[in-house]
Amino acid sequence: MIDVRVLPDREAVGVAAADLIDAAVIDRSERVLGLATGSSPGPAYAELIRRHGQDPASPYRSSHAFLLDEYVGLPPDHPERYARVIRREFTEAMGIDAGMVHGPDPDAPDLERACRAYDAAITASGGVGVQILGIGTDGHIAFNAPGTPFSEGTHVARLSSSTRRDNARFFDGDPERVPASAVSQGIATILRARALVVVAMGEAKAEIVARLLSSDPTEELPASALHLHSDVTLVLDRSAARRVS
Ligand code: GLP
Repeated sequence: MIDVRVLPDREAVGVAAADLIDAAVIDRSERVLGLATGSSPGPAYAELIRRHGQDPASPYRSSHAFLLDEYVGLPPDHPERYARVIRREFTEAMGIDAGMVHGPDPDAPDLERACRAYDAAITASGGVGVQILGIGTDGHIAFNAPGTPFSEGTHVARLSSSTRRDNARFFDGDPERVPASAVSQGIATILRARALVVVAMGEAKAEIVARLLSSDPTEELPASALHLHSDVTLVLDRSAARRVS
């Protein structure tokens, strides 16, 4: 059962998602975070920074973090590399050392091997305790596009044209400049996290949220895999919840 919470606005969504992450890190002593990029987690990250950023004894400072995905083909110093985005938008202000933040290696000569190594590193860390997730308008989670087998671990993923269009806002509005592929945790990797906090906000997500909640698990709708997990909270603002009956 997905636990659905509807909040009045993005600030309230951030507070609710931060409460769920704090419950894992502070109450349940989880020390491995799963981090997503994109705009959906932004308010939760801002709230966590407000609560803990200045605290030298914050348990987040001794936590590891694993990124969901990373573009293939961007130079290491590109500002849209997810490793740089997450540092800029969250981990630096939280006092999490760069060495504690891990991502799939998009520059490895053997990408398949790098994917297996990434899954192994997550497992060796004890596994992700709490994973924050957004949802793409086509129902993707991480970069798992419709049709991706639920059984896949971290793998090289092609970006659909709709995802490249959605992400063009980070690349001067030009979908052609959005990388065509990424290294992404698979659905199987994501479902191994002990708790999932999924955030969707805005009118553009209303349709996919309603479809996800009314769908049985099907590979045609990657986010429907969330129904297979026993600890999922979907945090919505009013606009994203508009079509939920
Ligand atoms: C991107 C990311 C996903 C993210 C999704 C939604 O392509 N790879 O991890 O959840 O799209 O993005 P946003 O939160 O900006 O709507």
